[in-house]
Amino acid sequence: MRYPFRAIMTVLYVAGFSTAAYFAWQAAGYYGLALAERPLATEMHKLYKPGGLVGHGLGIVGGTMVLALFLYPARKRRLPGLRWGTMSRWLTVHIWFGITGPVLITLHTALKFGGIVSISYFSMMAVMLSGFFGRYLYSMIPRGPGGDALSRKQIDELVAHLGETLAGRDQTTSEIARLTDRYAGQLGQPGIITWGRILAFDLTRPIRPWLLGRSIHRVAPDLPRTAVQKISKRTHQRAMLVRRRRMLDSVNRVFDLWHVVHKPFAYVAVIIMFLHIAVALLMGSRWVF
Ligand code: HEM
Repeated sequence: MRYPFRAIMTVLYVAGFSTAAYFAWQAAGYYGLALAERPLATEMHKLYKPGGLVGHGLGIVGGTMVLALFLYPARKRRLPGLRWGTMSRWLTVHIWFGITGPVLITLHTALKFGGIVSISYFSMMAVMLSGFFGRYLYSMIPRGPGGDALSRKQIDELVAHLGETLAGRDQTTSEIARLTDRYAGQLGQPGIITWGRILAFDLTRPIRPWLLGRSIHRVAPDLPRTAVQKISKRTHQRAMLVRRRRMLDSVNRVFDLWHVVHKPFAYVAVIIMFLHIAVALLMGSRWVF
């Protein structure tokens, strides 16, 4: 059975963010109070303090989400019972947990930071923020539909295939061929300048095929719009692959380094989170629901 995965993820993001936005809006007045004044706002305090009905609830849900995101590394290691589903979908869910969980935990803290548990909080936020960079590096490694990295041979075959379809069926003229050949741009040896070029290209990625389409239209005004779109889409795909192929070793090295930072912070965050829960239980805190 095929699941409407994208639609489910959209619903989850909307649900997560609207829940967080609703409580942040409700509690905004409380969060704005000085710590000493908060207990005086009796009703709000009962609800939104970290141990209050809402504050505690958000902490439990957010904490559970942060634990649930460790299903991704477990799936990566093919632990028993977790050998189903594609890695790319697992990562998508990991990212949802990794964004929504910390957002809910931020509300649970009631913006009151201190003590050893704040190390857990800031480690978690550091991991979360570094995740965005990791996701970018992840996208720089060419992958198949399931999310597994392609081998160099597979990348070369794909580049050749896209090149053939561009040269063949798409009615390319020499003018268009010149444009599409130039599209990937010049890349020097992988280094700071090349990384800068790649970043600049990626930042403008959403409008690049459109810009190329306009240039093609200028040199071949009679070409139907659908053909122009097809050529620019394939040229873009090929250029991305050529660039990714060129940078592969460099990206893999940076990605390995990123793992070295991302993982320990994640484990520190979780270990201290468990200590925090243990201390809270010892201090007499109980399930709030
Ligand atoms: C509290 C938040 C988060 C924690 C604790 C966390 C933790 C982890 C852990 C433990 C891994 C597995 C590393 C490994 O075994 O190779 C991982 C991988 C990864 N995470 Fe997160 N993560 C969080 C949030 C995020 C976010 C918000 C993003 C993206 C926006 C993200 C993107 C990634 C990526 C791209 C990978 C590597 C995938 C791979 O190499 O297969 N993470 N994360």
